[in-house]
Amino acid sequence: MLAPAGRDAAVLSDLFWVMLTGAVVLWLLMNGLMLYVTRINPEKMSRRRAEVLILGGGVIFPAVTLAALLVFSLSEMPQQRAIGEGLIVKVTGEKWWWRVEYWPDPDGSPIVSANEIRLPTGQRSEIELGANEVIHSFWIPVLGGKTDMIPGRKTRMSLEPTEVGNFRGQCTEFCGLSHALMAFGVVVESPEDFKAWLEREATDAVAPTDAQSRRGKEIFDGSGCGACHAVRGTDATGKVGPDLTHLGSRTTLAAGTLPMTVSALEDWLRDPERLKPGAKMPAYDHLSPADLTSLAVYLRGLE
Ligand code: CUA
Repeated sequence: MLAPAGRDAAVLSDLFWVMLTGAVVLWLLMNGLMLYVTRINPEKMSRRRAEVLILGGGVIFPAVTLAALLVFSLSEMPQQRAIGEGLIVKVTGEKWWWRVEYWPDPDGSPIVSANEIRLPTGQRSEIELGANEVIHSFWIPVLGGKTDMIPGRKTRMSLEPTEVGNFRGQCTEFCGLSHALMAFGVVVESPEDFKAWLEREATDAVAPTDAQSRRGKEIFDGSGCGACHAVRGTDATGKVGPDLTHLGSRTTLAAGTLPMTVSALEDWLRDPERLKPGAKMPAYDHLSPADLTSLAVYLRGLE
């Protein structure tokens, strides 16, 4: 949060430094005065001088200083909740992952993804937040402040990234057993790169090309994975778990918990409970190691 890559985070970081500087200066001043009256000049002072000191140093000075800091912090607030001007991203907190929908056209249909937020630089995107079951909180430290996600209610924020890069977001409201494992990747791109990515994200999943991936898809279809997960362009249309259409193109697996590799996918499929306690994803440890690898290769190939 002190290395801001977005306009809102820059404001928050300025606010932090101004407040910290103010606090340090005042702390030094108070301790200096205490030192002065106890060690350097411990003599009794005249009533007149004491009154001036109490009125000036105890009433006027703090009132003026605190009012100035208050005016400064209030003046920074309006931009923090400005309405977005283009893209709308709807994010829903689940246990313990993120349902993500991109709405480039508010009247159109959404492009569904999960566990990664992509945003373009140079424009203010509107972020609509919701939750199922329990309260979560959405936070991308390098881009802006936190906003709670509350079941049955819509909350919102907007973000204007200024720097291209890979960042990380995190749930910051205790939401159960795997709260600490509820993170997500954040990718900020130039508007052109973002547009190209969004067009790719809107397409159906690629069909497996090699024998191992084809075998993986057979196992996926035959194991009931499609009851919870959607892979667009196939028979898998489940809505319970994360959309897997372009799973392999995300930077992380299991909501910021694991790297997006075949071996991490194998670990995840074999024993999700160990990696994310309480997750609804069942273990597929009854599959043979070879089948597990094929399934992981198929999933990794969904780019
Ligand atoms: Cu979701 Cu903590």
